[in-house]
Amino acid sequence: MTSVSAEHQALHHGLTIVHTALRRSLDTVASTASKPVPEADRAGFADFCERTAKFVRAHHDSEEEIFFPVFEQAGLAEQIKTWRGDHAALLDELDQLEAAIAAFQARGDHERLAASATRVRALLFPHLDAEEAGLDIAVLQKAVTTEQAAALATAASKHGQKHVGTRGLMLFLHALTAEEQRAHFGKMPWFVRKVLVPIWDRNYRPCARYAHNATISL
Ligand SMILES: [Fe+2]
Ligand SMILES: [Fe+2]
Repeated sequence: MTSVSAEHQALHHGLTIVHTALRRSLDTVASTASKPVPEADRAGFADFCERTAKFVRAHHDSEEEIFFPVFEQAGLAEQIKTWRGDHAALLDELDQLEAAIAAFQARGDHERLAASATRVRALLFPHLDAEEAGLDIAVLQKAVTTEQAAALATAASKHGQKHVGTRGLMLFLHALTAEEQRAHFGKMPWFVRKVLVPIWDRNYRPCARYAHNATISL
């Protein structure tokens, strides 16, 4: 294989690290909701669930809007057709999950939330696995130029800033190990890492007990 450009590596890393954060966050939603949640923790857990659902939706919207059209043009149309079908089924279940989160927040029981999160997980995880298998670095190298890879990564980052916002960013960061945080976000400007992230992190406190990693190490 020819050497892999930094742009292709960054694109591949970006796609897979989001999947890692989605898997961990959804696992936490499903496992926490499988047992009664203490009343004092209801608001914080509902907040965590709401961020997770929004993160799942934003990731799939960004693929539909940014990545899939480019991959369709690059000879992967059959594959993308299958994944668009996965997304349609997934987004239906995600509507149900959002309704279950709202009901839980308004004093509803945890069982509906657990059942819904488990259904989303059953659709989502095989889909993420399929995307990772189908978009490995060799496929990406063949499908897009270095310039396209850089443009896709930039467009995805902008989409995330617009649709996930700082609440989603905090969920994302806390779903990663220290090493993963630094690999994906270590190049953000000093002012963002050292000043803004700690400020944004304050609104994550109600969710902190559900974090994969309680600490941000940027
Ligand atoms: Fe997807
Ligand atoms: Fe994906």
